[in-house]
Amino acid sequence: DLSPIDKAKYAAARRASEMVEDGMRVGLGTGSTAAWLVRCLGERVRDEGLRFRAVPTSTRTAELAREVGIEVVSLGDAGWLELTIDGADEFDADLSLIKGGGGALLHEKIVATASDQMVVIADAAKEVDTLGRFPLPVEVIGFGWQATQALIEEALASLDVDGRDTKLRMDGDAPYTTDEGNRILDLQLGRIGDPRQMALVLNQIPGVVENGLFIDICDRVMIGHSDGRVETRD
Ligand code: A5P
Repeated sequence: DLSPIDKAKYAAARRASEMVEDGMRVGLGTGSTAAWLVRCLGERVRDEGLRFRAVPTSTRTAELAREVGIEVVSLGDAGWLELTIDGADEFDADLSLIKGGGGALLHEKIVATASDQMVVIADAAKEVDTLGRFPLPVEVIGFGWQATQALIEEALASLDVDGRDTKLRMDGDAPYTTDEGNRILDLQLGRIGDPRQMALVLNQIPGVVENGLFIDICDRVMIGHSDGRVETRD
């Protein structure tokens, strides 16, 4: 039996999976909600003979997609995507997002921006008035990451946030490593007053590869509820 939160994630994933049509090229996100989507799409491949090509945003998603019978291609081979469906850690009224809780923000941002449409699937608990309660993930190069962290902390001093702590993400005793071999710093900001400015400032710091703010990228959020209802925000 599914927990209420999983029922909500499943409801959103299920509804979004109906957007995929024969012949499409589709980006597949990462995380537990996206995993439900991949399983729903696998069912459609098996039961309806749906044929589409998928570009996964992580090795985890690629493995699951292959397992359920979805044809996986690289972004280079796909060229361009009609649709990307992904989860998120937070979204606000502008459909700005925080992503990267699952560590795949870099590939997720590349895939989402190479798509005509990005749809986010989420449970209602991910909706916020102001982004920032969820720690903002920033992917940084391993070389001199401590210097990059210091520069980020210096930059935060002049930005409109409530907290300024930054933490190297760990995987047990070792630093967490992304699919590109980089590290992640989680920025505990509490509240991000100006997400657009934050994104610009972070990406100008040497050593920063990408930040987890998605602004003007998401076109629609499908919000799942545990009773099976799905709300759509465009
Ligand atoms: C992965 O890097 C993230 O951007 C995910 O989209 C996010 O963490 C959502 O995960 P859940 O669906 O498990 O909440």
